Amino acid sequence: MSGLDASLALVRERLEGARSVCVLTGSGISSESGLPTFRGVNGLWRTHRVEELASPEGFARDPMLVWTWYNERRAAHQRAEPNAGHYALAELERRVADFTLVTQNVDSLHHRAGSRNVIELHGSLREARCDRCAERIPLDGPLSAAAVEHGCGGRFRPDIVWFGESLPPRAFERATAAAARADVILVVGTSGMVYPAASLATRYPRSDALIVEINPEETPLSSSAGVVLRARAATALPALLETESGEFVSLREQ
Ligand code: OAD
Repeated sequence: MSGLDASLALVRERLEGARSVCVLTGSGISSESGLPTFRGVNGLWRTHRVEELASPEGFARDPMLVWTWYNERRAAHQRAEPNAGHYALAELERRVADFTLVTQNVDSLHHRAGSRNVIELHGSLREARCDRCAERIPLDGPLSAAAVEHGCGGRFRPDIVWFGESLPPRAFERATAAAARADVILVVGTSGMVYPAASLATRYPRSDALIVEINPEETPLSSSAGVVLRARAATALPALLETESGEFVSLREQ
């Protein structure tokens, strides 16, 4: 049995006995759906200016520049399909009594894969929100320049948490509570560079919880993990659901 297969077997066993599981995902889980990550090769923050596109100041300066970018991202999310990693997490939720999926992603692919108890720490692109009165409208297509101005004097902005802004307090409270009661925490496809999301894997877990990182690359969170699976999410997550007699083809070492 390879080292990776032995680690998979250990995590499988802990998942089977777990009463409570918490999962933290980042953009890496959607990369096999064809969506770019933020900091990888061709990552969004390598080719775009964060302060122009993802800050309240950037939006105040040029709302249509910001909307053009988010309209394009939203369209790309809609063209993408959930992958085997998203579907595996939806299946894991059906098997565990207390399951919470905390995501930093705004692409809605976990919802589309059938996950139900999803906390979207950084918001979503399903709605726009008025920056003055907080009224929300659904985003069924691109938001046009004419639709940006709201009657109250405010402007509709993407319902996303931008740099310099706080996370929705209730969402973060629920996420920390889920991390604190979990027997197993899966940390999937995130560089662990953005706080407070990353603190779910470092500050809140119980000392006897098993933290599992699923990421082909090392991250600052790797040293906090009891098990590191150096594999892609769409391969490793379905593998965690297989029983020993399952038909899953053994993973290749990366
Ligand atoms: P990053 O781009 O920082 O990290 C993506 C991680 O996914 C990296 O560690 C990759 O090694 C890993 N990865 C790539 N392909 C993978 C695969 N197939 N399976 C598993 N892992 C894979 O993206 P995030 O950690 O999501 O915030 O970034 C966090 C936040 O920073 C985002 O939510 C966004 C960004 O600024 C906001 O916009 C508020």
